[in-house]
Amino acid sequence: MKQRAKRKFRLISSVLAVLLLLSGCGPDFKEDNSQDTVTPKDDSLIVVGVSQIGSESVWRTANTASIQSTFSKENGYFLIFDNARQKQENQIKALRSFISQQVDYIVFSPIVEDGWDTVLQEAKDAGIPVILMDRNVNVKDESLYTAWVGSDFTEEGRRAGRWLSGHLAEEGRGDEEVNIVVLQGTNGSTSVIGRTKGFDSVAAQHDRWNILEQADADFTTAKGKEEMNKMLQKYEDIDVVVSQNDDMTFGALEAIQEAGMTTGTEGEIIVISFDATKSALEKVEEGIINVDIECNPEQGAYIEKVIRTMENGERADKEYFVEEKVFTKKNVDSVIDDRSY
Ligand code: AHR
Repeated sequence: MKQRAKRKFRLISSVLAVLLLLSGCGPDFKEDNSQDTVTPKDDSLIVVGVSQIGSESVWRTANTASIQSTFSKENGYFLIFDNARQKQENQIKALRSFISQQVDYIVFSPIVEDGWDTVLQEAKDAGIPVILMDRNVNVKDESLYTAWVGSDFTEEGRRAGRWLSGHLAEEGRGDEEVNIVVLQGTNGSTSVIGRTKGFDSVAAQHDRWNILEQADADFTTAKGKEEMNKMLQKYEDIDVVVSQNDDMTFGALEAIQEAGMTTGTEGEIIVISFDATKSALEKVEEGIINVDIECNPEQGAYIEKVIRTMENGERADKEYFVEEKVFTKKNVDSVIDDRSY
């Protein structure tokens, strides 16, 4: 019997026993609101437990939508979705619940990289493959997860740095002193670690780039505004804002405008953003944001490919990188109308 079929048999038997005990009814499965008792009616469906970080950004909402549309009943899946509301402890709880329900696959986006060894070992011991989505984990034993699907965050950071270098050169400012502030997302997350490392590696090649501060703004608009306000009060001469997602960028733009300053292609402050959501791309089109480094949230199809590979009894690759581009005023029209998020 295949691994999944064995687990399904155990899951059905245990749930069936509970249902029979509780209701005295026949072997029909049911859904209810309690996460521990959600079970599929149709045994041919592949059961996938997904632990999402939360809904901190437009990007995250698009990522959730991609998962929910991919893992539908029509596509042969039974999705158990949990929103961890930005808390690692909620993610650990969700993972344990998926393990006790003996789901076929666990998919999760770890809020930070550290602290997963124990729960991933529990999933491994239960024979449940874990696929990481978007962010990565820092574990001693890499066999604790099967595959990772996401962005090359370090390359995203390098793209931001390379764009800035080219832009300053084009403007004849290549030899000028440039003061940079950075709004970072969630501390300890893969996206922050990668984007910071990538941007810093390019900055290290430019003696006259001064990174004045890297402030933690947690990927949210409210924190982006708050931290930008503080930096505007602290530093007189900010030339560049690197904001590690569009939500924080919107907060920063508000703070800059309220301080009576201008941004973008014709403005005083150069703005570099990440994600490339529709509303931010519109600001690129208007010339208010100079450049947006795409981070692709549509990862459902990539994850499904991993699951299909395993269902066919084949070995999945360890890493799958999603496709991404860089958008400025020059090429933003090619994407803006079709952007769904
Ligand atoms: O990990 C991806 C990042 O997380 C996106 O850039 C951000 O918007 C999200 O919250």
